[in-house]
Order: sequence, then C-alpha cells, then structure tokens
Amino acid sequence: MLNDLQNFATFAAQIALEAGSILKKGFGSEFLISSKDGRHDLVTEYDQKVEAFLKDKIKIFYPDHEILAEESPRDKFSTDHPCWIIDPLDGTVNFAHQIPVFSISIALAIKKEIVVGVVYHVMQDELFTAQKGKGAYANGKLLKISSTPYLKDSILATGFPYDLIFNPNHCIEHFIEILKIGVPIRRMGSAAIDLCYIAAGRFDGFWEISLKPWDFAAGLLIVEESGGKISKMDGSPLKAFEASSVLASNPHIYSSLFKQLQLK
Ligand code: IPD
Ligand code: CA
Ligand code: CA
Repeated sequence: MLNDLQNFATFAAQIALEAGSILKKGFGSEFLISSKDGRHDLVTEYDQKVEAFLKDKIKIFYPDHEILAEESPRDKFSTDHPCWIIDPLDGTVNFAHQIPVFSISIALAIKKEIVVGVVYHVMQDELFTAQKGKGAYANGKLLKISSTPYLKDSILATGFPYDLIFNPNHCIEHFIEILKIGVPIRRMGSAAIDLCYIAAGRFDGFWEISLKPWDFAAGLLIVEESGGKISKMDGSPLKAFEASSVLASNPHIYSSLFKQLQLK
C-alpha cells in the first residue's frame, strides 16, 4: 500500500505539471468563456481541455479507478472504488481575467478517505503534495502550519460562492464577524490555493460557506499533513464526497475562529 501511495502521488504530480503547461500556454490568449448557472460562474475551454487531459491519463494508467471531475456528468458513480477527485482549473474567474492565481487540484480517495493530494499553483510553479501519514510538501520542501497563537494576530483568507446574491447563506454576516476583529483578510479566488497557503503557514485561517469536493479534497489532506485543523464550519468532519462549508486553521486559533463564525 505504501509503495502504491508513492506511485499514485508521483503520477498525480506528473499529470498536474503536464496539465499546468496547457494552462500556461492558454493564459492570456483568446479563448471561449461561457457562464454556468450563476452570472460569474464561468467555464473556459481550458477547464474542459485540462479535465479531458487528466481523465485520459487516469483512464490509461488506472482503468479501474473512478473519477469525480468538476466539468463531467456523474451518473453511475460509486465511491467505494479508488476515486480521483479533480478540479482541472480552480480559480477560473482569475484565469479568465488574466489574474495569475489559479491551480489544478487532484486528490485520490480510497475507501472514501483522501490518501493523496496534489495542488499545482501554475503561474508560481509551486507544487503542493501530500500522502496520508507522510507530511505535506511544496516543491519538495516540508510544510509547517503557522504558529500564530491568537486570532487577533492572524491573517485569514476566505471565498464566496458564485450564487451569493441569490443564496447569501449568512456569508455576509460571517464576513462582518471577522471584519470586527480587525485582522487582514484575503480572497485569492482559488480555494485549493487558500488551503495550501494555510499548510505553508502563510495564512493562519480560512473559511468558506459552500465548497465542492473538488475544491477542497486535495487541500484537506495537505492541511492535515502540515499539522493544521480542517472541518466543516460547524466543527464536524469534512467528507470527501460531500459539498460543504470548510474551516481550516492552525491548531492554536481553530476554536476562536470557530466561535467567531458562530452567528448570534
Ligand atoms: C472556485 C474557487 C473560489 C471559491 C469558489 C469556487 P472554480 O472554484 O475555488 O476560490 O471561492 O467557491 O467555486 O469555480 O474557480 O473552480
Ligand atoms: Ca473550484
Ligand atoms: Ca474549477
């Protein structure tokens, strides 16, 4: 199993880097952009190109594995098999607006548990990797969560759902609660990168009200393996195949951040 994990992780890193070259070529070029359900929920031809590339590679190397990928329909899906969870382009809005902050996120779940996570921050050439029980790395360097002891001294990150105006879901109230403590807040536009930055100790905490498995699957393992805490915003464990809120931080500020986000 350990050898398998190593092989899966090497494979995921390799295809993420190759897919990254596709996005690098496309960045700043003219390409097709269309909107999904929300006005700002965009999909470009590159989301689709990269997804097709990654799926083809997986089907060649692991034909018996399942794939859960953002842009593909998902009928006949069983999470009992090893399953790759893929976001081919996390940060599509940035990519579409020529903002160089976007990533490729690839995770492998076995028996519904994430055992490999890879996030490639394409334009920074930064490859985040983790295997269950083996630590998390960025370009081969071991990652360590921040040691900031207090929420009041933290730098935080968040994100907002595309359907915010139709479904505010207390998003604004949460944001206000955090603004009240007067700490810096960043909105990078790629949840996968946000989680990797938590793992790297660059951010102390992150929350987002509604994410999909492909947004957080790889980042979940990368945060855990760097010593961070990650859960739903109600404190319960994240599930690999369920859309949910996400709260992640270093272990020192986790409970204060959790409390601050509980609405009175
Ligand atoms: C989005 C990004 C963003 C987050 C959104 C996600 P996409 O993913 O991760 O940071 O705030 O909720 O949908 O659409 O760029 O793959
Ligand atoms: Ca995404
Ligand atoms: Ca995406």
